[in-house]
Amino acid sequence: MTTSTPLSTAPADLIAINGTDHVEFWVGNAKQAAYFYQKAFGFQIVAYAGPETGVRDRASYVLQQNKIRFVLTTALVADHPVSKHVLDHGDGVRDVAFWVEDAVKAFQLATARGARTVREPFVLEDAHGKVTLATVATYGDTVHTFVQRDGYEGVFLPGFVPRQGLDVPSTGLAYVDHLVGNVGWNEMNTWVEFYQTVFGFHHFANFDDKDISTEYSALRSVVVANHNERIKLPLNEPAEGKKKSQIEEYIQAYGGPGVQHLALVTPDIVDTVRKLKANGVEFLSTPDSYYDSLAQRFEGLEENLDELKELGILVDRDDKGYMLQLFTKPLEDRPTLFFEIIQRKGSESFGKGNFKALFESIEREQDLRGNL
Ligand code: FE2
Repeated sequence: MTTSTPLSTAPADLIAINGTDHVEFWVGNAKQAAYFYQKAFGFQIVAYAGPETGVRDRASYVLQQNKIRFVLTTALVADHPVSKHVLDHGDGVRDVAFWVEDAVKAFQLATARGARTVREPFVLEDAHGKVTLATVATYGDTVHTFVQRDGYEGVFLPGFVPRQGLDVPSTGLAYVDHLVGNVGWNEMNTWVEFYQTVFGFHHFANFDDKDISTEYSALRSVVVANHNERIKLPLNEPAEGKKKSQIEEYIQAYGGPGVQHLALVTPDIVDTVRKLKANGVEFLSTPDSYYDSLAQRFEGLEENLDELKELGILVDRDDKGYMLQLFTKPLEDRPTLFFEIIQRKGSESFGKGNFKALFESIEREQDLRGNL
């Protein structure tokens, strides 16, 4: 008799989620988006599905950098869910897929606890093995697909073929630290409860409008995490300020709730940000005054202060250590999804101490767009 050791030690009544399997973006032109994420961020194309592989209605490129896996999917016809999604939202995150041990059980538990069915469990199979998938809805038009791999040995999922793209150097991005959802006015607690009830996530941290309001751009945020804390999902809602909250600007631009940003971890933020800037990635600016008292506030900082200032990198700390972070400008013309580049040195902070400087920077951009 053989036994297998489960990767997850979640209690039996919880959905055993090991981590994020992949993040799928629905976009207007996947070929061009793939070029952007390769050239600008250093991702490598590893797999593809489309007309050449027998898929008639869409094309998908799988991009990878260390443990980060993105799927970029576009529709090839007008009457298609991807086309409708792009019409409504512009390019954005459709699916935050969870890697699970048992997709059928995960689906049954989630739907029994109130998640809406998007797709019932189904099996994809090819010469490399089989994968079981099932999809449930979350905020807005965003979904979570449960992915049960059972030791599948193909390049991504059955139906995808290996594909090489450009030979681009990595920028050092290693894994997703957290993934943030923006929801509407007074909807945050509903969605916190949803993740707690449906997926068994727990409360990880919260920030109220006193932590994160500037003169104008207020928001509230609660972070929920799965049992092993590999998945951390902050949920933001707008709060009353003097002018339009940045969360409200997002919701108007995206046409509803959706994924606001992905925080991508690097082991060397100075090196990564230097490479990203050289590749043309645009970041929010940090005023020079931010660095005036930084050395006093952060004794024992291992980084060179002049380099942090030159690159505009922000620093925050908690009782466990410190962290460094920097935010890109939106990655689309609509002010919607952006990336955060983050390096953690012990700290579990999400950058609370930087919210004021950061939001003032966001407000300068909002003002330029006429949305403040
Ligand atoms: Fe973040």
